[in-house]
Amino acid sequence: MGKILIINGPNLNLLGKRETGIYGTLTLDEINRMVSDEAGRLGLHVEFFQSNHEGEIIDRVHSAIGDFDCVVINPGAYTHYSIAIRDAVSSVKIPTIEVHLSNIHAREEFRHKSVIAPVCVGQIAGFGPASYLLALRAAAEIL
Ligand code: DQA
Repeated sequence: MGKILIINGPNLNLLGKRETGIYGTLTLDEINRMVSDEAGRLGLHVEFFQSNHEGEIIDRVHSAIGDFDCVVINPGAYTHYSIAIRDAVSSVKIPTIEVHLSNIHAREEFRHKSVIAPVCVGQIAGFGPASYLLALRAAAEIL
């Protein structure tokens, strides 16, 4: 069974309360339950990690080596400037899919650039919580 690590970065622990007009009203736990259900249907094993700290996200990416077949990551605002997370993703050589709830390309200019997407298999953005479900389907395709 393919093992998928789902990483959520800063402020995503506040989903459901945070800018609901942009990110919706579901909490991260509710989204994770939807992801677990979809993983069951796709025959995938999923584990979840959320952190507001760049170094913790990097450590979690490192410790996925040899344990996970694919990483799905919503790096939050780190998407736009964390070369350190980009380097971690590129170093571990685990196929990684970048996910965003919002369409970052349709928002402020500073959100249009992802420094992480170039080292990912691909990026899914703009479908709300369904972005994570689409990422799981993409993971099932590449495995
Ligand atoms: C986000 C988009 C980022 O620009 C923002 O900083 C987030 C959430 C998204 O899922 O749409 O924290 O990654």
